Amino acid sequence: MPRRRTVVAVAATLVVLAPLGWFWQQSLVPDGLSAMDMGYADYGGGPAMPAGHHHAGVGELKPVADRAADVSVRLVARSERFEIPGRGSMAGYTLNHTSPGPQITAKQGDLVEVTLVNESVPDGMTLHWHGVDVPAAEDGVAGVTQDAVLPGQTFTYRFVAVDAGTYWYHSHQVSHEQVKKGLYGVLVISPGTTDVVAAVHTYDKIRTVNGGYGERRVAGAPTVRLRLINTDNGPMAAWVDGAGYKVIAVDGTAVNAPTPVEGKAVLVTAGGRIDLEITLPSKAVRIGLGGGPTTLVIGEGDAPAGPEPADRVDLLSYGTPAALPFDPATADRHFEYRIGRRPGFFDGKPGLWWTINGHQFPDVPMFMVTEGDVVTMTLKNTSGQVHPMHLHGHHVLVLSRDGTRATGSPWWTDSLNVEDDETYEIAFLADNPGIWMDHCHNLPHAAQGLVTHLMYEGVTTPFRLNGPNKNQPE
Ligand code: C2O
Ligand code: CU
Repeated sequence: MPRRRTVVAVAATLVVLAPLGWFWQQSLVPDGLSAMDMGYADYGGGPAMPAGHHHAGVGELKPVADRAADVSVRLVARSERFEIPGRGSMAGYTLNHTSPGPQITAKQGDLVEVTLVNESVPDGMTLHWHGVDVPAAEDGVAGVTQDAVLPGQTFTYRFVAVDAGTYWYHSHQVSHEQVKKGLYGVLVISPGTTDVVAAVHTYDKIRTVNGGYGERRVAGAPTVRLRLINTDNGPMAAWVDGAGYKVIAVDGTAVNAPTPVEGKAVLVTAGGRIDLEITLPSKAVRIGLGGGPTTLVIGEGDAPAGPEPADRVDLLSYGTPAALPFDPATADRHFEYRIGRRPGFFDGKPGLWWTINGHQFPDVPMFMVTEGDVVTMTLKNTSGQVHPMHLHGHHVLVLSRDGTRATGSPWWTDSLNVEDDETYEIAFLADNPGIWMDHCHNLPHAAQGLVTHLMYEGVTTPFRLNGPNKNQPE
Protein backbone atom coordinates (compact mmCIF):
# COMPACT_ATOMS: atom_id res chain seq x y z
CA MET A 1 0.00 0.00 0.00
CA PRO A 2 2.58 2.64 0.97
CA ARG A 3 4.55 1.84 -2.14
CA ARG A 4 1.46 2.21 -4.36
CA ARG A 5 0.68 5.53 -2.70
CA THR A 6 4.21 6.72 -3.42
CA VAL A 7 3.89 5.76 -7.06
CA VAL A 8 0.60 7.63 -7.36
CA ALA A 9 2.08 10.67 -5.63
CA VAL A 10 5.13 10.71 -7.89
CA ALA A 11 2.96 10.30 -10.98
CA ALA A 12 0.68 13.13 -9.86
CA THR A 13 3.67 15.38 -9.22
CA LEU A 14 5.04 14.63 -12.67
CA VAL A 15 1.69 15.43 -14.27
CA VAL A 16 1.81 18.84 -12.62
CA LEU A 17 5.51 19.56 -13.03
CA ALA A 18 6.22 18.22 -16.51
CA PRO A 19 4.18 20.87 -18.36
CA LEU A 20 5.56 23.55 -16.04
CA GLY A 21 9.04 22.35 -16.88
CA TRP A 22 8.16 22.44 -20.55
CA PHE A 23 6.86 26.02 -20.32
CA TRP A 24 9.93 27.01 -18.32
CA GLN A 25 12.23 25.44 -20.93
CA GLN A 26 10.30 27.06 -23.81
CA SER A 27 10.59 30.50 -22.24
CA LEU A 28 14.40 30.53 -22.08
CA VAL A 29 15.91 33.02 -24.51
CA PRO A 30 18.59 31.04 -26.33
CA ASP A 31 22.13 32.38 -26.19
CA GLY A 32 23.13 33.81 -29.55
CA LEU A 33 19.53 34.28 -30.76
CA SER A 34 19.30 36.25 -33.99
CA ALA A 35 16.66 38.90 -34.65
CA MET A 36 16.12 37.03 -37.93
CA ASP A 37 15.01 33.85 -36.14
CA MET A 38 12.56 35.09 -33.56
CA GLY A 39 9.05 33.73 -33.21
CA TYR A 40 7.43 33.76 -36.61
CA ALA A 41 7.27 35.88 -39.74
CA ASP A 42 4.11 37.97 -40.12
CA TYR A 43 3.64 39.23 -43.69
CA GLY A 44 0.68 41.41 -42.83
CA GLY A 45 -1.47 39.98 -45.64
CA GLY A 46 1.12 40.92 -48.27
CA PRO A 47 3.29 38.55 -50.30
CA ALA A 48 5.70 36.35 -48.36
CA MET A 49 9.36 36.84 -49.23
CA PRO A 50 11.41 33.85 -50.31
CA ALA A 51 13.52 32.62 -47.41
CA GLY A 52 17.25 33.03 -47.32
CA HIS A 53 17.83 35.60 -49.99
CA HIS A 54 20.08 38.38 -48.99
CA HIS A 55 20.56 41.88 -50.36
CA ALA A 56 22.43 43.56 -47.57
CA GLY A 57 23.58 43.09 -44.02
CA VAL A 58 22.59 45.85 -41.60
CA GLY A 59 26.26 46.84 -41.40
CA GLU A 60 26.30 47.60 -45.14
CA LEU A 61 23.40 50.02 -44.86
CA LYS A 62 25.69 53.00 -44.37
CA PRO A 63 25.04 55.36 -47.26
CA VAL A 64 27.24 58.25 -46.04
CA ALA A 65 30.61 56.55 -45.77
CA ASP A 66 32.88 59.02 -47.56
CA ARG A 67 31.81 62.53 -46.78
CA ALA A 68 33.59 64.75 -44.31
CA ALA A 69 31.71 65.31 -41.07
CA ASP A 70 30.14 68.71 -40.41
CA VAL A 71 29.69 68.00 -36.71
CA SER A 72 32.16 65.80 -34.81
CA VAL A 73 31.59 64.83 -31.22
CA ARG A 74 33.58 62.51 -28.98
CA LEU A 75 31.67 61.04 -26.05
CA VAL A 76 33.55 59.20 -23.32
CA ALA A 77 31.30 57.01 -21.17
CA ARG A 78 32.20 56.29 -17.59
CA SER A 79 30.80 54.67 -14.53
CA GLU A 80 31.22 57.37 -11.85
CA ARG A 81 29.43 59.77 -9.51
CA PHE A 82 28.01 62.96 -10.90
CA GLU A 83 26.24 66.04 -9.57
CA ILE A 84 22.51 66.64 -9.78
CA PRO A 85 22.30 70.40 -9.16
CA GLY A 86 19.77 71.06 -6.38
CA ARG A 87 20.00 67.54 -5.07
CA GLY A 88 23.55 66.26 -4.55
CA SER A 89 25.57 63.58 -6.22
CA MET A 90 24.64 60.12 -7.40
CA ALA A 91 26.47 57.04 -8.65
CA GLY A 92 25.64 56.28 -12.26
CA TYR A 93 26.99 56.75 -15.75
CA THR A 94 28.27 59.86 -17.49
CA LEU A 95 29.22 61.05 -20.96
CA ASN A 96 32.19 63.43 -20.82
CA HIS A 97 31.74 63.50 -17.02
CA THR A 98 28.13 64.75 -17.09
CA SER A 99 24.63 63.35 -17.20
CA PRO A 100 22.80 64.20 -19.34
CA GLY A 101 25.65 64.02 -21.84
CA PRO A 102 26.54 67.07 -23.92
CA GLN A 103 23.76 68.44 -26.11
CA ILE A 104 24.52 67.68 -29.76
CA THR A 105 23.37 70.24 -32.32
CA ALA A 106 23.56 70.09 -36.08
CA LYS A 107 22.01 71.89 -39.00
CA GLN A 108 19.62 70.07 -41.26
CA GLY A 109 21.70 68.23 -43.87
CA ASP A 110 24.85 68.10 -41.74
CA LEU A 111 26.80 64.88 -41.51
CA VAL A 112 27.04 64.11 -37.81
CA GLU A 113 29.86 61.93 -36.55
CA VAL A 114 29.86 60.76 -32.96
CA THR A 115 32.72 58.70 -31.59
CA LEU A 116 31.70 56.75 -28.54
CA VAL A 117 34.50 55.68 -26.24
CA ASN A 118 33.45 53.32 -23.48
CA GLU A 119 35.93 53.85 -20.73
CA SER A 120 34.20 52.05 -17.88
CA VAL A 121 30.53 51.12 -18.39
CA PRO A 122 30.87 47.49 -17.34
CA ASP A 123 28.07 45.89 -19.40
CA GLY A 124 29.13 47.67 -22.59
CA MET A 125 26.89 50.24 -24.23
CA THR A 126 25.68 51.78 -27.49
CA LEU A 127 24.08 55.04 -28.63
CA HIS A 128 20.65 55.11 -30.27
CA TRP A 129 19.38 58.32 -31.94
CA HIS A 130 15.80 58.30 -30.75
CA GLY A 131 13.45 59.63 -33.42
CA VAL A 132 16.12 60.18 -36.07
CA ASP A 133 15.62 58.04 -39.18
CA VAL A 134 19.28 57.02 -39.47
CA PRO A 135 20.63 54.24 -41.73
CA ALA A 136 20.22 50.85 -40.03
CA ALA A 137 23.95 50.43 -39.33
CA GLU A 138 23.87 53.58 -37.17
CA ASP A 139 20.80 52.72 -35.10
CA GLY A 140 22.77 51.60 -32.07
CA VAL A 141 20.84 48.52 -30.98
CA ALA A 142 23.12 45.99 -29.28
CA GLY A 143 22.64 42.54 -30.77
CA VAL A 144 20.71 43.79 -33.81
CA THR A 145 22.67 46.56 -35.55
CA GLN A 146 26.00 46.26 -33.70
CA ASP A 147 27.74 44.62 -30.79
CA ALA A 148 27.76 46.34 -27.41
CA VAL A 149 30.83 48.58 -27.11
CA LEU A 150 32.73 47.04 -24.22
CA PRO A 151 35.00 48.92 -21.78
CA GLY A 152 38.12 49.93 -23.73
CA GLN A 153 36.31 49.83 -27.09
CA THR A 154 35.26 52.62 -29.45
CA PHE A 155 32.47 52.90 -32.03
CA THR A 156 31.84 55.70 -34.53
CA TYR A 157 28.34 56.66 -35.66
CA ARG A 158 27.82 58.66 -38.85
CA PHE A 159 24.50 59.89 -40.16
CA VAL A 160 23.00 62.81 -42.04
CA ALA A 161 20.70 65.00 -39.97
CA VAL A 162 17.91 64.79 -42.54
CA ASP A 163 15.01 66.19 -40.54
CA ALA A 164 15.14 69.30 -38.38
CA GLY A 165 13.65 68.84 -34.94
CA THR A 166 13.99 67.79 -31.31
CA TYR A 167 15.49 64.37 -30.60
CA TRP A 168 17.51 62.61 -27.95
CA TYR A 169 20.05 59.86 -27.70
CA HIS A 170 20.51 57.04 -25.23
CA SER A 171 22.22 53.73 -24.74
CA HIS A 172 20.43 50.70 -26.21
CA GLN A 173 22.33 48.10 -24.23
CA VAL A 174 20.72 47.05 -20.94
CA SER A 175 18.74 50.22 -21.60
CA HIS A 176 16.32 49.86 -18.69
CA GLU A 177 19.25 50.29 -16.33
CA GLN A 178 21.73 52.41 -18.33
CA VAL A 179 19.28 55.14 -19.38
CA LYS A 180 17.89 55.56 -15.87
CA LYS A 181 21.42 55.86 -14.51
CA GLY A 182 22.48 58.56 -16.91
CA LEU A 183 23.42 57.45 -20.44
CA TYR A 184 21.32 59.90 -22.44
CA GLY A 185 21.48 63.39 -23.94
CA VAL A 186 19.70 65.89 -26.16
CA LEU A 187 20.05 66.12 -29.94
CA VAL A 188 18.62 69.16 -31.75
CA ILE A 189 18.73 69.44 -35.52
CA SER A 190 18.60 73.06 -36.70
CA PRO A 191 18.24 74.82 -33.37
CA GLY A 192 16.92 78.38 -33.33
CA THR A 193 18.12 81.38 -31.36
CA THR A 194 15.03 81.40 -29.12
CA ASP A 195 15.26 77.77 -28.01
CA VAL A 196 14.78 76.64 -24.45
CA VAL A 197 15.32 72.91 -23.87
CA ALA A 198 13.46 71.06 -21.11
CA ALA A 199 14.77 67.49 -21.06
CA VAL A 200 13.05 65.66 -18.21
CA HIS A 201 14.71 62.63 -16.65
CA THR A 202 14.15 60.64 -13.47
CA TYR A 203 17.23 59.23 -11.74
CA ASP A 204 16.13 56.74 -9.09
CA LYS A 205 12.88 58.60 -8.26
CA ILE A 206 14.53 62.05 -8.56
CA ARG A 207 12.85 63.90 -11.42
CA THR A 208 15.13 66.46 -13.04
CA VAL A 209 15.00 68.93 -15.89
CA ASN A 210 18.22 69.41 -17.87
CA GLY A 211 19.93 67.39 -15.16
CA GLY A 212 18.85 69.65 -12.24
CA TYR A 213 16.33 69.12 -9.44
CA GLY A 214 13.70 71.58 -8.15
CA GLU A 215 12.89 74.97 -9.66
CA ARG A 216 15.36 75.63 -12.47
CA ARG A 217 15.58 79.05 -14.11
CA VAL A 218 16.49 80.17 -17.60
CA ALA A 219 16.31 83.44 -19.48
CA GLY A 220 14.08 83.64 -22.54
CA ALA A 221 13.56 85.78 -25.61
CA PRO A 222 10.12 87.42 -25.99
CA THR A 223 8.97 84.44 -28.03
CA VAL A 224 10.48 81.13 -26.98
CA ARG A 225 10.60 77.72 -28.63
CA LEU A 226 10.38 75.29 -25.74
CA ARG A 227 11.66 71.81 -26.62
CA LEU A 228 10.08 69.37 -24.16
CA ILE A 229 11.74 65.95 -24.06
CA ASN A 230 10.48 63.08 -21.92
CA THR A 231 13.33 60.62 -21.35
CA ASP A 232 11.39 58.73 -18.66
CA ASN A 233 9.39 55.52 -18.72
CA GLY A 234 5.93 57.00 -18.24
CA PRO A 235 3.88 59.79 -19.83
CA MET A 236 4.25 63.32 -18.47
CA ALA A 237 1.78 66.20 -18.57
CA ALA A 238 3.45 69.56 -19.23
CA TRP A 239 1.86 72.99 -19.14
CA VAL A 240 2.67 76.69 -19.20
CA ASP A 241 1.63 78.68 -16.17
CA GLY A 242 1.35 82.39 -16.98
CA ALA A 243 1.00 82.36 -20.79
CA GLY A 244 -0.76 80.65 -23.67
CA TYR A 245 1.15 78.66 -26.27
CA LYS A 246 1.00 76.81 -29.56
CA VAL A 247 2.10 73.22 -30.12
CA ILE A 248 4.47 73.69 -33.04
CA ALA A 249 6.08 70.25 -33.34
CA VAL A 250 5.51 66.68 -32.19
CA ASP A 251 8.36 64.15 -32.14
CA GLY A 252 10.47 66.39 -34.36
CA THR A 253 7.83 67.07 -37.03
CA ALA A 254 6.20 70.50 -37.42
CA VAL A 255 2.47 70.78 -36.73
CA ASN A 256 0.51 72.27 -39.65
CA ALA A 257 -1.25 75.55 -38.75
CA PRO A 258 -1.18 75.26 -34.94
CA THR A 259 -3.80 77.30 -33.08
CA PRO A 260 -3.42 79.11 -29.71
CA VAL A 261 -3.97 77.04 -26.57
CA GLU A 262 -5.03 78.42 -23.17
CA GLY A 263 -5.44 76.54 -19.91
CA LYS A 264 -4.56 73.09 -21.19
CA ALA A 265 -1.70 70.67 -20.63
CA VAL A 266 0.08 68.62 -23.29
CA LEU A 267 0.94 64.99 -22.80
CA VAL A 268 4.55 64.14 -23.57
CA THR A 269 4.82 60.40 -24.24
CA ALA A 270 7.72 58.52 -22.71
CA GLY A 271 10.48 58.96 -25.30
CA GLY A 272 8.45 61.67 -27.05
CA ARG A 273 9.09 65.36 -27.69
CA ILE A 274 6.71 68.31 -27.92
CA ASP A 275 7.82 71.79 -29.01
CA LEU A 276 5.80 74.75 -27.76
CA GLU A 277 5.91 78.34 -28.94
CA ILE A 278 5.37 80.64 -25.98
CA THR A 279 5.05 84.41 -26.16
CA LEU A 280 6.31 85.57 -22.79
CA PRO A 281 4.39 88.22 -20.87
CA SER A 282 6.40 90.85 -18.93
CA LYS A 283 6.53 88.42 -15.98
CA ALA A 284 8.11 84.98 -15.72
CA VAL A 285 6.25 81.82 -16.73
CA ARG A 286 6.53 78.42 -15.13
CA ILE A 287 6.61 75.18 -17.08
CA GLY A 288 4.87 72.46 -15.09
CA LEU A 289 6.54 69.10 -15.64
CA GLY A 290 4.36 66.35 -14.29
CA GLY A 291 3.40 68.16 -11.11
CA GLY A 292 6.40 67.44 -8.87
CA PRO A 293 8.86 69.92 -7.36
CA THR A 294 10.93 70.11 -10.55
CA THR A 295 9.77 72.91 -12.84
CA LEU A 296 11.36 75.26 -15.31
CA VAL A 297 10.88 79.01 -14.89
CA ILE A 298 11.53 81.17 -17.93
CA GLY A 299 12.23 84.83 -17.21
CA GLU A 300 12.93 86.95 -14.12
CA GLY A 301 10.98 87.44 -10.88
CA ASP A 302 8.15 85.50 -9.30
CA ALA A 303 6.45 82.93 -11.46
CA PRO A 304 2.90 81.64 -10.98
CA ALA A 305 2.53 78.15 -9.49
CA GLY A 306 -0.96 76.96 -10.35
CA PRO A 307 -2.16 73.36 -10.54
CA GLU A 308 -2.06 71.14 -13.62
CA PRO A 309 -4.90 72.12 -15.98
CA ALA A 310 -7.54 69.42 -16.17
CA ASP A 311 -7.88 69.68 -19.96
CA ARG A 312 -5.38 68.30 -22.46
CA VAL A 313 -4.55 69.18 -26.02
CA ASP A 314 -5.77 66.33 -28.23
CA LEU A 315 -3.34 65.86 -31.10
CA LEU A 316 -6.00 63.89 -32.99
CA SER A 317 -7.84 67.13 -33.76
CA TYR A 318 -5.19 69.85 -33.24
CA GLY A 319 -4.00 71.91 -36.22
CA THR A 320 -5.07 71.62 -39.85
CA PRO A 321 -4.84 68.68 -42.30
CA ALA A 322 -2.13 68.75 -44.97
CA ALA A 323 -1.07 66.57 -47.89
CA LEU A 324 0.45 63.19 -47.05
CA PRO A 325 3.49 61.63 -48.76
CA PHE A 326 1.60 58.34 -49.28
CA ASP A 327 -1.98 57.11 -49.27
CA PRO A 328 -2.77 54.93 -46.23
CA ALA A 329 -5.93 53.71 -48.01
CA THR A 330 -3.80 51.73 -50.46
CA ALA A 331 -1.70 49.87 -47.88
CA ASP A 332 0.32 46.88 -49.09
CA ARG A 333 0.39 45.25 -45.66
CA HIS A 334 -1.60 45.51 -42.47
CA PHE A 335 -0.22 44.37 -39.12
CA GLU A 336 -1.79 43.89 -35.74
CA TYR A 337 0.25 44.71 -32.64
CA ARG A 338 -2.04 43.57 -29.83
CA ILE A 339 -0.57 43.97 -26.37
CA GLY A 340 -1.84 41.75 -23.57
CA ARG A 341 -0.58 40.23 -20.37
CA ARG A 342 -0.77 36.76 -18.86
CA PRO A 343 0.84 34.55 -16.23
CA GLY A 344 3.65 32.33 -17.39
CA PHE A 345 7.41 32.14 -17.64
CA PHE A 346 9.74 34.68 -19.22
CA ASP A 347 13.35 33.61 -19.63
CA GLY A 348 12.75 30.98 -16.97
CA LYS A 349 11.15 33.39 -14.48
CA PRO A 350 7.51 32.99 -13.43
CA GLY A 351 5.36 36.13 -13.45
CA LEU A 352 2.73 38.14 -15.30
CA TRP A 353 4.27 38.84 -18.67
CA TRP A 354 3.45 40.97 -21.71
CA THR A 355 2.17 39.32 -24.85
CA ILE A 356 2.18 40.47 -28.48
CA ASN A 357 -0.69 38.95 -30.45
CA GLY A 358 -0.96 36.34 -27.70
CA HIS A 359 2.72 35.36 -27.93
CA GLN A 360 5.51 35.97 -25.46
CA PHE A 361 9.04 37.08 -26.33
CA PRO A 362 11.00 35.61 -28.09
CA ASP A 363 8.09 33.77 -29.75
CA VAL A 364 6.74 37.05 -31.15
CA PRO A 365 5.70 38.11 -34.67
CA MET A 366 8.38 39.70 -36.85
CA PHE A 367 6.71 42.27 -39.09
CA MET A 368 8.04 41.60 -42.61
CA VAL A 369 8.05 44.34 -45.27
CA THR A 370 9.50 45.11 -48.68
CA GLU A 371 11.06 48.49 -49.37
CA GLY A 372 8.39 50.84 -50.71
CA ASP A 373 5.45 49.19 -48.94
CA VAL A 374 2.74 51.36 -47.48
CA VAL A 375 1.99 49.76 -44.13
CA THR A 376 -0.88 50.14 -41.70
CA MET A 377 -0.88 48.79 -38.17
CA THR A 378 -3.44 48.37 -35.42
CA LEU A 379 -1.99 48.99 -31.97
CA LYS A 380 -4.40 47.58 -29.42
CA ASN A 381 -3.72 47.50 -25.71
CA THR A 382 -5.69 45.34 -23.28
CA SER A 383 -2.83 44.71 -20.87
CA GLY A 384 -4.00 46.88 -17.98
CA GLN A 385 -1.16 49.42 -18.29
CA VAL A 386 -0.13 52.25 -20.62
CA HIS A 387 2.58 51.56 -23.22
CA PRO A 388 4.58 54.21 -25.11
CA MET A 389 5.13 52.46 -28.43
CA HIS A 390 8.29 53.30 -30.37
CA LEU A 391 9.20 52.12 -33.89
CA HIS A 392 12.81 52.78 -34.85
CA GLY A 393 13.87 54.26 -38.18
CA HIS A 394 10.46 55.57 -39.27
CA HIS A 395 7.89 58.19 -38.47
CA VAL A 396 4.37 56.84 -38.19
CA LEU A 397 1.17 58.69 -38.96
CA VAL A 398 -1.79 58.39 -36.60
CA LEU A 399 -4.96 57.56 -38.55
CA SER A 400 -7.46 57.05 -35.73
CA ARG A 401 -7.94 56.38 -32.04
CA ASP A 402 -10.73 54.08 -30.88
CA GLY A 403 -12.38 54.50 -34.26
CA THR A 404 -12.29 58.31 -34.25
CA ARG A 405 -10.43 59.49 -37.32
CA ALA A 406 -7.63 62.06 -37.07
CA THR A 407 -8.91 65.42 -38.26
CA GLY A 408 -6.10 67.82 -37.28
CA SER A 409 -2.60 68.36 -38.61
CA PRO A 410 -0.99 65.14 -39.80
CA TRP A 411 0.14 63.63 -36.49
CA TRP A 412 3.57 62.14 -37.13
CA THR A 413 5.04 60.36 -34.17
CA ASP A 414 7.75 57.96 -33.12
CA SER A 415 6.57 57.54 -29.52
CA LEU A 416 2.84 56.94 -29.16
CA ASN A 417 1.11 56.71 -25.79
CA VAL A 418 -1.28 53.76 -25.98
CA GLU A 419 -3.43 53.65 -22.85
CA ASP A 420 -5.06 50.52 -21.54
CA ASP A 421 -8.15 49.72 -23.62
CA GLU A 422 -7.10 52.05 -26.43
CA THR A 423 -6.74 51.14 -30.08
CA TYR A 424 -4.76 53.24 -32.55
CA GLU A 425 -4.56 52.82 -36.29
CA ILE A 426 -1.25 54.06 -37.66
CA ALA A 427 0.47 54.04 -41.05
CA PHE A 428 3.99 54.41 -42.35
CA LEU A 429 6.02 54.13 -45.51
CA ALA A 430 8.66 51.39 -45.45
CA ASP A 431 11.42 53.56 -46.90
CA ASN A 432 14.42 52.78 -44.68
CA PRO A 433 15.73 49.22 -45.17
CA GLY A 434 16.97 47.54 -42.03
CA ILE A 435 15.92 45.59 -38.98
CA TRP A 436 14.11 47.99 -36.69
CA MET A 437 13.04 47.53 -33.10
CA ASP A 438 9.36 48.17 -32.43
CA HIS A 439 8.94 48.21 -28.67
CA CYS A 440 7.49 49.75 -25.58
CA HIS A 441 9.60 52.69 -24.35
CA ASN A 442 8.77 51.98 -20.76
CA LEU A 443 12.20 50.37 -20.76
CA PRO A 444 11.55 47.87 -17.95
CA HIS A 445 8.55 46.66 -20.00
CA ALA A 446 10.82 46.20 -23.01
CA ALA A 447 13.25 44.27 -20.82
CA GLN A 448 10.27 42.09 -19.83
CA GLY A 449 9.66 41.19 -23.45
CA LEU A 450 7.43 43.93 -24.88
CA VAL A 451 9.62 44.13 -27.95
CA THR A 452 9.60 42.91 -31.52
CA HIS A 453 10.91 44.26 -34.82
CA LEU A 454 10.16 45.31 -38.35
CA MET A 455 12.33 43.47 -40.86
CA TYR A 456 12.89 44.34 -44.51
CA GLU A 457 13.08 41.72 -47.22
CA GLY A 458 16.65 40.67 -47.87
CA VAL A 459 18.23 42.49 -44.92
CA THR A 460 20.23 40.28 -42.59
CA THR A 461 22.21 40.84 -39.43
CA PRO A 462 25.37 39.12 -38.26
CA PHE A 463 24.78 40.35 -34.68
CA ARG A 464 23.26 38.18 -31.97
CA LEU A 465 21.61 38.60 -28.59
CA ASN A 466 23.93 37.66 -25.72
CA GLY A 467 27.04 36.04 -27.25
CA PRO A 468 30.57 37.19 -26.38
CA ASN A 469 29.64 40.89 -25.98
CA LYS A 470 26.60 39.98 -23.83
CA ASN A 471 24.31 41.97 -26.12
CA GLN A 472 21.12 42.76 -24.26
CA PRO A 473 19.42 45.68 -26.01
CA GLU A 474 16.72 46.27 -23.41
CU1 C2O B 1 14.57 55.31 -27.48
CU2 C2O B 1 14.50 51.44 -28.92
O1 C2O B 1 14.57 53.32 -28.17
CU1 CU C 1 5.02 49.20 -21.81
